Amino acid sequence: MTKKVKVTIIGLGNVGCNLLQILENKKNELKNSYHVEFSIICIADSSGIAIDLDGFKPLEILAHKHSGKRINTFKSYSNGKTVLEALEEINCDLVFEASPVNLETAEPALSYCEKAIEKGYHLVLANKAPLVIAFKDLHEKARYNNVGILYSATFCGGLPVLNICRRDMIAGKITKIQGVFNATSNFILDEMAKGQSFDKALLETQKRGAAEADPKLDIEGWDTANKLVLLANTVLDVSIYLKDIDVQGITQVTADQLKLHKDKNETIKLVAAAVFEGNNYVFSVKPTILSLSDFLGTCNGWEMGVEIHSDIYGISYHKLWEREPIPTAASMIRDAVQLCKY
Ligand SMILES: NC(=O)c1ccc[n+]([C@@H]2O[C@H](COP(=O)([O-])OP(=O)(O)OC[C@H]3O[C@@H](n4cnc5c(N)ncnc54)[C@H](OP(=O)(O)O)[C@@H]3O)[C@@H](O)[C@H]2O)c1
Repeated sequence: MTKKVKVTIIGLGNVGCNLLQILENKKNELKNSYHVEFSIICIADSSGIAIDLDGFKPLEILAHKHSGKRINTFKSYSNGKTVLEALEEINCDLVFEASPVNLETAEPALSYCEKAIEKGYHLVLANKAPLVIAFKDLHEKARYNNVGILYSATFCGGLPVLNICRRDMIAGKITKIQGVFNATSNFILDEMAKGQSFDKALLETQKRGAAEADPKLDIEGWDTANKLVLLANTVLDVSIYLKDIDVQGITQVTADQLKLHKDKNETIKLVAAAVFEGNNYVFSVKPTILSLSDFLGTCNGWEMGVEIHSDIYGISYHKLWEREPIPTAASMIRDAVQLCKY
């Protein structure tokens, strides 16, 4: 029997639009193989929200957004209604949150998440900020309200590392985990090593929809640090915040340095690490010189990679090529299916 799942999508940018496209392209697979049918009853961008309890057609929303318009000129626009009011009055099953990161307060996404949880709607996030700022609080509220929160899209897009660590490393202790977590800065460093300018490389990542709305988050290392916070809280069982991480981005790395190291069969990557030393993990995000034959040294351009050292599961290596946020959007769907399948 197919389960009809009524959803709200907040954020209709690069990730939200890819989510809509996959919901359309994969609707038969989702129905036939997973017995889930998603009905999009509420959508929101920065201009406002639209509600259709019978369900919007993903392609109609996409055509509207791709023509450069916003929800305040879409059919069923609820003039003057806020996202919080909409979440209060509609009765949905799950909220997809894909609005921009705000590292100061996580707002307005944090309030959207709290409202969704309070109303008993499952939550699937691509936006890291609410979890980086209020991980414990959101999870406690979710447990209290019997709501599921999944966010595999927040950690290296389509790379299922959070899932692997949680599901497949039972009773293992992670002694070290390190990786190249940010494709935007990785692509920029690679292009600079090839002689391209920083600005031109950054522009290319923005054109592809890979960069954050505020690209400082990528190049100053904060997006990488956000992912380390989520990793620590989710799979290392330590409650940390951004202030607990020593963060350096790639803005000080020069083309000359990259060339010098390339000539020595080396490369510079923005590496995030959590290393268990003594009784604690030590966390860092910094540009790191690597041999071109190191696993992380082989993560080129649009790739992200993670190396997991465990006491009983050996050392495993995971890599993803993601140039546009299609795998990120797909991860939101895998999370939603997992939450709603049963
Ligand atoms: N892009 C990636 O590769 C990637 C990968 C993993 C995770 N993420 C995360 O996913 C989220 C979305 O990324 P993106 O690349 O899709 O960003 P984006 O292209 O900038 O899209 C953001 C969307 O959120 C909407 N929005 C802005 N303020 C809002 C508000 N107050 N209420 C409701 N909607 C609002 C924007 O509206 P308008 O359309 O009106 O501007 C836009 O539709 C971010 O948190 C990002 O960190 C992105």
